[in-house]
Amino acid sequence: MTFPKVTVVGAGQVGATTAELLLLHGTADVVMVDVVEGVPQGKALDLMHLRSIERFGPSVRGTNDYSDTAGSDVVVITAGLPRKPGMTRDDLLAANSDIMRSVITQAVEASPEAVFVCVTNPLDIMTYLAWRESGLPHERVLGMGGVLDSARFAFAVAHHTGAPITEIDALAMGAHGDAMVPMPRFTTINDVPITDLLPAHEVDELVERTIHGGAEVVALLKSGSAFYAPAGSIVAMVRAILGDTGALLPSCVRLTGEYGIDDVYLSVPARLGAGGVQSVPELPLNDAELEALQSSARTVAASLDAIGLRA
Ligand code: NAI
Ligand code: 2OP
Repeated sequence: MTFPKVTVVGAGQVGATTAELLLLHGTADVVMVDVVEGVPQGKALDLMHLRSIERFGPSVRGTNDYSDTAGSDVVVITAGLPRKPGMTRDDLLAANSDIMRSVITQAVEASPEAVFVCVTNPLDIMTYLAWRESGLPHERVLGMGGVLDSARFAFAVAHHTGAPITEIDALAMGAHGDAMVPMPRFTTINDVPITDLLPAHEVDELVERTIHGGAEVVALLKSGSAFYAPAGSIVAMVRAILGDTGALLPSCVRLTGEYGIDDVYLSVPARLGAGGVQSVPELPLNDAELEALQSSARTVAASLDAIGLRA
């Protein structure tokens, strides 16, 4: 049986867990690339030992050489430094910009037809940078932020209300960071918006917990940041792309006028499938929601302009 090929750049916490989930789901053959010699090879070997137990079909190899990644269908970029306690995602900007430039150049050269899913923080800036450096159509370069943020919103609602997670649909849009825009009116328990079920101050608390969900994990771990839910979020996007499902997933995409926002990468619901982003159907936001999203976009745009990334 042949499988699609997915390259995961960065064999750290997020990258290796992504590889593991892709294998366990039987989604794709995986190539893990890292700058550190031995780490991707060792983790790949460990995962191949796991294959003997779990009996998954696809295989994995680790490498430091992009020629092994040639012809990938999807490239996931997790290479970079994670946050330490007290650090913002923006603190990572300078170091991770250099890493992203180097990675995207080599990865596109090896797999010019691939869809690229960026994960490295600060996410919205790094995804824009990857798109600019890649020279690819923006539909083929996207980022993972909104799926994770929405999952955290769903958890916060489940934890607070006791409702089964299977009955909750949650949506967070906007920047992956403090300018995130959780959307309570589009967050439902059994299709009923939480704004109709909970008092406003409780909704506000759930929104705050969502925005700080990543920091909550960082503070507990003391070293490194979240990786299980991030990896699951990446795999949900990769499966939609490879399966050409057209699934509507909150994804960091380049907006070109949608919601009155132009030339900014930001998480909004987008249909993912073959070729990456297939469409960005606009939600009927009310005035306050639209203003919050546009304000989030202004924050990202200011960061892009501060480092001269936009033309
Ligand atoms: P980690 O430190 O465990 O792994 C990063 C890996 O990247 C390391 O193995 C490192 O050797 C490798 N690396 C560094 N430079 C490289 C290069 N030039 N080429 C290839 N590999 C290189 O970090 P972790 O926890 O896996 O996080 C990775 C990134 O993902 C961080 O920037 C983190 O902030 C971000 N992140 C983003 C999320 C999102 O929702 N977008 C969620 C979780 C993490
Ligand atoms: C997170 O949200 C650090 O962006 C990473 O967990």
